[in-house]
Amino acid sequence: MTDILEHVQARSDQVGPQEAGADAAFRPSEYTGFLIHAVQAAIAGHPLGRPLGRVVEIGVGSGAVLASLAGCGATSLTGTDVDPGAIRATQRLMDSLGQPVELACGDLWAPLAGRRFDLVLANPPHFPMLAPGYAGRPPQWSFGGPDGRLVMDQLLRGLPRHLAPGGHAYVVHSAFLGLAATNRLLAERGLAARIVASSFMPLAPEKLPVMTPAVLHGAGPEAIQRIGPHTFLRTDVLEISAAGPGDA
Ligand SMILES: C[S@@+](CC[C@H](N)C(=O)[O-])C[C@H]1O[C@@H](n2cnc3c(N)ncnc32)[C@H](O)[C@@H]1O
Repeated sequence: MTDILEHVQARSDQVGPQEAGADAAFRPSEYTGFLIHAVQAAIAGHPLGRPLGRVVEIGVGSGAVLASLAGCGATSLTGTDVDPGAIRATQRLMDSLGQPVELACGDLWAPLAGRRFDLVLANPPHFPMLAPGYAGRPPQWSFGGPDGRLVMDQLLRGLPRHLAPGGHAYVVHSAFLGLAATNRLLAERGLAARIVASSFMPLAPEKLPVMTPAVLHGAGPEAIQRIGPHTFLRTDVLEISAAGPGDA
């Protein structure tokens, strides 16, 4: 497994202040680290074997998730993002690792018509917000629409067209979205999810004022925990694949 921290450190020693500044808004988040760890655990054990086959990340952002798979024996690494800045940041990171990658700027699956992948990765925007954008991040970074599901639903709806037979998707999924709604959407398409990692993520204070008040304040303790001035959000990584006989 490529040591991403080593590579990122080596790279930050090489780049000048202007380039580092250009990538700062796309810095990886704690959700990125969560997804990387879950995927590494999946690669180490069931159900992914080697080679990994064709890998795609939807919403590459910093590029750290794809970069963490450099040297992992994937047949190909592909990524999309709606933000050209994310595509540039990812290209720079992959170039610094000497890792070939295919990147396309566009909405979700749009640049990937007719293509299937063995491994699909995504940490899509999943925050319920009335308008895009908050300090320090590009506008589309976290914006999930009023109920948070705007991007997630489109991502999941595309899976039957883009997941190869026997393939798996690993998707970051916050409790704001409601697991029942996700399970319903997947079941209607012959897919099923299981939780492979769970955490309470600190909710960045700068996000709170731009979040949909009804969703934020309506969330129960299974979704949101408030500890003094701090707010934590239950977040899972879902493994999604074709539904088996046991999946209702
Ligand atoms: C929460 S960030 C995660 C990025 C990346 N996984 C990382 O941690 O560095 C979500 C990413 O999805 C991208 N995104 C948002 N809406 C999108 C869409 N409709 N199609 C493709 N990418 C999208 C954003 O630009 C952002 O880079």
